[in-house]
Amino acid sequence: MERIETEAPAREEIGAGYAGRIFRQIQRVIDDTGGQAGTLIRVLQQAQGLIGYLPPPVLKTISRDLKIPLSELYGIVSFYHFFTMVPKGRHVIQICLGTSCYVKGGQRLLDTLKKDSGLEPEGITPDGKFSLETVRCLGCCGLSPVMAIGDDVHRKVKPGEIKDILSPYE
Ligand code: FES
Repeated sequence: MERIETEAPAREEIGAGYAGRIFRQIQRVIDDTGGQAGTLIRVLQQAQGLIGYLPPPVLKTISRDLKIPLSELYGIVSFYHFFTMVPKGRHVIQICLGTSCYVKGGQRLLDTLKKDSGLEPEGITPDGKFSLETVRCLGCCGLSPVMAIGDDVHRKVKPGEIKDILSPYE
């Protein structure tokens, strides 16, 4: 898969290949909305729907064409939890590092994941199967430490159990 360049290309620079195709589709989304700033959330949602996340070149293109400062776009994307600037795996692992989970070993879960699969927070495995996030509370502090895989919440997790927990998702 061709990597999207880090600078948003000008319209006339958009060439063949994956990146060009994606940018043409995003351009269509922007054009369909009439380039109105009021349609920003829809443009962001549709752009994310095309590639699964909103990398800087995509945000730069949207900023340029909707004439919205890039800093404002970054603010909006980080405010709404359903937007992401990093690619997500098919299964999103969340390790809770809220106070209760941290005290009961949440950091050890994170260290084990890093050691066993090389996953860092905001990272994704090379095969795109798993990505990792840290969160502040998953709402079941009495059963710390907690990790979630998608909607499945695993409670009182011990580092040695992580491999078995992940295997059904492989
Ligand atoms: S602190 Fe981890 S579930 Fe609340």
